Amino acid sequence: MPTTTALSLRNVTLELGDGDSKVRPLDNVNLEIEHGEFVGVIGPSGAGKSTLLAVAGALATPDSGAVKVLGQDLAKLTRSQGKLAKFRLHNIGFVFQSGNLIPALNAADQLRLVNKISKGPADFDPMPLLEAVGIAQKAKNLPRQLSGGERQRVGIARAFVTNPGLLLVDEPTAALDRQRSQQIVTLLAEQCHERGVATMMVTHDHEVLGHCDRVVEMVDGRLTPVDG
Ligand SMILES: Nc1ncnc2c1ncn2[C@@H]1O[C@H](COP(=O)(O)OP(=O)(O)O)[C@@H](O)[C@H]1O
Ligand SMILES: [Mg+2]
Repeated sequence: MPTTTALSLRNVTLELGDGDSKVRPLDNVNLEIEHGEFVGVIGPSGAGKSTLLAVAGALATPDSGAVKVLGQDLAKLTRSQGKLAKFRLHNIGFVFQSGNLIPALNAADQLRLVNKISKGPADFDPMPLLEAVGIAQKAKNLPRQLSGGERQRVGIARAFVTNPGLLLVDEPTAALDRQRSQQIVTLLAEQCHERGVATMMVTHDHEVLGHCDRVVEMVDGRLTPVDG
């Protein structure tokens, strides 16, 4: 049986730089996220939020502490970059600030490419996912033919192609106006709950925190719960 915990960070510390310029973006961080739980991470610029996502997403290795994703201890995979990359591709979805789409591919092909790279089914159909994020009618549009909010929707649909158990989202509303920000975070919360995907969303935007099941704050590499 899989555990109910999708992401577990135990006493995670990471230092960067050396000598006088040494910083500790993660200072003894503890965090658990359950399947289907939508957790927001707020905190000032430079607090370590993106570093937290990198460590949870197997893109960076901490100096000490344990990171488990879907029960897998990442330290046991880090000796082989191939194994780690494969684990990441199949189990972890990423959504970035402005969608990070490939300029030459239309919306449907952005999803098809991920399916191909991850050796998904030959008869993969991107339309149900594009429908789920409300953008099926723009399937043939290139990124430059989409608004910021629409690009972000494609980025979210793309993150779900491999059916990841963990979704990591970095400042998804940074390039959007207030109304679109609310729509995008509403969509993320819905998808997280419907699919049972554990979701960690880093944001500066206090106005979208109401959609989160739980909020934690990061300051100087340390995490603390936020009431309310
Ligand atoms: N590769 C790196 N080398 C040295 N310092 C870094 C590196 N990446 C990030 N930092 C520093 O780590 C701290 C946390 O950065 P980051 O996680 O990007 O913060 P946030 O996303 O909260 O703005 C900052 O002080 C930043 O300057
Ligand atoms: Mg950041």
